[in-house]
Amino acid sequence: MTAVIEGVLSKDEVREFRGLLDKTAWPDAKAVGTAGSLAKLVKKNQQLDEASPLAIELGNRILRKLAKHDPFTAYALPHRIYPPRFNRYADGGSYGAHSDSALLHVANSSVVVRSDLSATLFLSEPDEYDGGELEIENPSDTQAIKLGAGDMILYPSGALHRVLPVTRGARIASFFWVQSTVRDGAARALLYELDQGVKQATAAMGGDNQTVQRLAAVYHNLLRRWAET
Ligand code: NI
Repeated sequence: MTAVIEGVLSKDEVREFRGLLDKTAWPDAKAVGTAGSLAKLVKKNQQLDEASPLAIELGNRILRKLAKHDPFTAYALPHRIYPPRFNRYADGGSYGAHSDSALLHVANSSVVVRSDLSATLFLSEPDEYDGGELEIENPSDTQAIKLGAGDMILYPSGALHRVLPVTRGARIASFFWVQSTVRDGAARALLYELDQGVKQATAAMGGDNQTVQRLAAVYHNLLRRWAET
């Protein structure tokens, strides 16, 4: 299951990010990337060094926004988030089909993030470039994703995915991984559905309604059974 999370960054924030990202130097991703040895073979893009002050500053700003972004929290039930990284595709740059590594070690720390969900936060508007779709192979179909700047896609890290060649302009994005408190994607999807139902029932009947209270208790009791922290 994939989810589009809209408005992680406002258009003003995107403009500010791009003002900084457009004037920085972008190294070849092979020199600084997180890709495993197999994924590296199919990767042709540029990526900011994760130790660069700019990557750290902008990554922390994204993390602060995500912490307050209810649609993200409700869907992902995040436990750990890998520090956001930034990449750029231009001049035919692409990333062939691969799946993401299961365990990601955060540089200079002992923290390991299990990748349950992969995230791409778009920082270029769709009309700034041609190509560059993120293709995700779901069990029954292939989705081609190209979102507005400031919007984000979340998808299962185990799904094969690729970025199609960018044939005009540049595609700039932030990407990172989320370890969810609920490892099983099907259980997480049920919790999300129930959460949305409780929110709708609350809006229709009020938070003090007994039925709403019982449904909310079921949500939290399921989360209590399934969450690992
Ligand atoms: Ni990937």
